Amino acid sequence: MFQLKSVLLGAALVRGVMSATALTGAPLDLFQESMSFLDDIYDPAAGYMYDFSSGGALTHTTRSSPWYAAGLLQRNRGDDREQAIKILKNVIGDQYKDPSSQWYGDYTKFPETPTVGTSQNPQVIYGSWDPNWRSFVGVTLIVIYEEFGDLLPQDMKALILESMYNSTVGDSYRVGGVDNDNLYPCYSNPWLMRTLATAWTGRMWNNTNMTESAETDAKLALELFNLNNTLSEFNSPTYASTSLTAVALWSKYLPEDSLLAQNGARMVKEIWNTVGEMYHPGLKNIAGPFDRAYGFDMNKYVSLIGLNIWALIGKKDAPMYKLPWVMSHNNDYNTAPLIAIVAPYMNSLVSNETIAKLKSFAGEHTYRTSAYSPPVDLTPRNITAWLGPAMSIGAQSFDQTQVGGFANSTSQWNPAAIQWKFADSSLGYMHLVGTEKALHADVQPGFLNLTYPKGTSKSKFQFRLSQNPLGGKRDIWSLADIENIDMTVSGTVNTTASFGYCGQYGGVCDDVNNFAVFLVTYLMPEGSTETPNIQIKLSYK
Ligand SMILES: *[C@@H]1O[C@H](CO)[C@@H](O)[C@H](O)[C@H]1NC(C)=O
Ligand SMILES: *[C@@H]1O[C@H](CO)[C@@H](O)[C@H](O)[C@H]1NC(C)=O
Ligand SMILES: *[C@@H]1O[C@H](CO)[C@@H](O)[C@H](O)[C@H]1NC(C)=O
Ligand SMILES: *[C@@H]1O[C@H](CO)[C@@H](O)[C@H](O)[C@H]1NC(C)=O
Ligand SMILES: *[C@@H]1O[C@H](CO)[C@@H](O)[C@H](O)[C@H]1NC(C)=O
Ligand SMILES: *[C@@H]1O[C@H](CO)[C@@H](O)[C@H](O)[C@H]1NC(C)=O
Ligand SMILES: *[C@@H]1O[C@H](CO)[C@@H](O)[C@H](O)[C@H]1NC(C)=O
Ligand SMILES: *[C@@H]1O[C@H](CO)[C@@H](O)[C@H](O)[C@H]1NC(C)=O
Ligand SMILES: *[C@@H]1O[C@H](CO)[C@@H](O)[C@H](O)[C@H]1NC(C)=O
Repeated sequence: MFQLKSVLLGAALVRGVMSATALTGAPLDLFQESMSFLDDIYDPAAGYMYDFSSGGALTHTTRSSPWYAAGLLQRNRGDDREQAIKILKNVIGDQYKDPSSQWYGDYTKFPETPTVGTSQNPQVIYGSWDPNWRSFVGVTLIVIYEEFGDLLPQDMKALILESMYNSTVGDSYRVGGVDNDNLYPCYSNPWLMRTLATAWTGRMWNNTNMTESAETDAKLALELFNLNNTLSEFNSPTYASTSLTAVALWSKYLPEDSLLAQNGARMVKEIWNTVGEMYHPGLKNIAGPFDRAYGFDMNKYVSLIGLNIWALIGKKDAPMYKLPWVMSHNNDYNTAPLIAIVAPYMNSLVSNETIAKLKSFAGEHTYRTSAYSPPVDLTPRNITAWLGPAMSIGAQSFDQTQVGGFANSTSQWNPAAIQWKFADSSLGYMHLVGTEKALHADVQPGFLNLTYPKGTSKSKFQFRLSQNPLGGKRDIWSLADIENIDMTVSGTVNTTASFGYCGQYGGVCDDVNNFAVFLVTYLMPEGSTETPNIQIKLSYK
């Protein structure tokens, strides 16, 4: 059913050059260090990576394998090429092949698990199958085809194109609000990846349906982005990187007549501008608020933006422990080869002002912007972040249809955040937990003012507070017990807070994204008729 011969002829017309990237400097360092680790968790007998997150008992994992295959082709020593081809054949062989299933063209999560959609393994979106795997694998296949196509036999290249065709058709089944899917234009990272994959695949197959659909999707993404040059999925230390990779490749691989090519480089520059404004090099952490975060301190969990910063200015200045695989969310270290391969192009689009801001603190400043995620946002969110010498305060005003932001996640959604430096240079933080659908946030130097416009006497302001550093006071019963920062609370709340410990083992609640925290809760006075408001004055000590 596929006319591969004519397609391959068409393929060569998209871009004249096959350009295996020569890596030097920081990208080379990231590449070599990550590959030497990943080599040890590759199973050559199977042709799959082992899953080294804490969730599996040496299960093989599909998604990480193509990232490593890209690294093997980049290195191309010994039997690297043969292993890469073996991986790609495995991953594509295991792609779902029934066009009538919602997960058609998607890639399995684990090659050992029983067939999805049976009574043994019922289909659960983001559970037994993950629609975003089409994009994570697909983007990697595109990079492999474009950068290393000259290392691949014709039948392998044809198989990649067939795989991309199926995954693009399957991706077109995704409609926000239908069949439990949530792919709206504001879900930035998969939306931008799907747009790339559909545009690229459409051109490879000379399929105007796909090409035009990608242009429409790009237009919808741009309508949101251009409001304030921000991603709707705002300030995610993980997913901003995924979006950056997608739009960098919009620019690199699509022809000039495409909206993608016309806007990709500008978007990369603007997204990095925001990172540069919100990243605090003195704390080695991005200031809040976060739409989606997998931790509180980038020095302790692997964030993809942390890997990008490594590839941009070097590991020494990046938020990264010397052994990234020891950190929380270590699984994301698997993406390092792909990030390194894309880095020379990505880095060329980042402004020198931004690079300077990532390296050393640019001085006290306030950054204001907005981001918009319809249909969950009833109005655009307004973001303010203040960065001082040893602390930051960031928050966003929002009015939404649900609690927990677009991602509907109270662990990932951090609408207000205070961060400061402890005496041992580690990071202190106190982040608001999302418990309401609307917040009015006012951020000033050393001052955070939060109001729930739709709140009631049952509302609460609840924060996740860091522990003091090792050797410091370990029992925190009041704000006075917190080290290196003075906090004074006022407002319509009862200013006497409760403090509970949330630990990995023990406490009154579970740790959050592997971070042990204190849960600090301010309630309204009983029977209060006032609008819930809390004001926190902060000074560094
Ligand atoms: C793509 O299709 C158009 C219209 O059918 C045709 O004119 C063109 O030659 C095709 N291009 C390639 C590369 O096959
Ligand atoms: C693509 O899907 C078709 C069914 O539409 C299937 O026959 C074919 O094997 C699939 N190709 C791959 C590479 O999965
Ligand atoms: C293009 O889309 C139309 C309408 O959905 C469909 O009938 C047609 O088969 C598609 N063509 C290709 C080449 O995918
Ligand atoms: C950054 O500065 C260097 C050296 O002055 C220059 O070559 C490069 O083009 C600049 N980068 C950008 C994105 O402007
Ligand atoms: C955000 O967009 C709005 C509407 O276009 C504009 O009024 C505002 O100045 C923009 N703010 C920033 C920081 O770009
Ligand atoms: C953000 O600011 C804009 C422009 O001032 C306003 O229209 C919008 O309602 C504000 N959003 C929130 C959630 O307050
Ligand atoms: C959001 O999460 C809540 C609690 O887990 C759930 O009840 C609700 O259905 C979710 N909403 C959507 C739109 O998925
Ligand atoms: C705090 O915010 C509330 C609600 O917007 C406002 O009424 C109050 O004046 C603010 N307080 C200060 C000190 O800015
Ligand atoms: C404030 O909270 C404290 C501690 O829970 C409690 O003893 C006190 O009665 C509360 N005050 C009001 C006005 O609700």
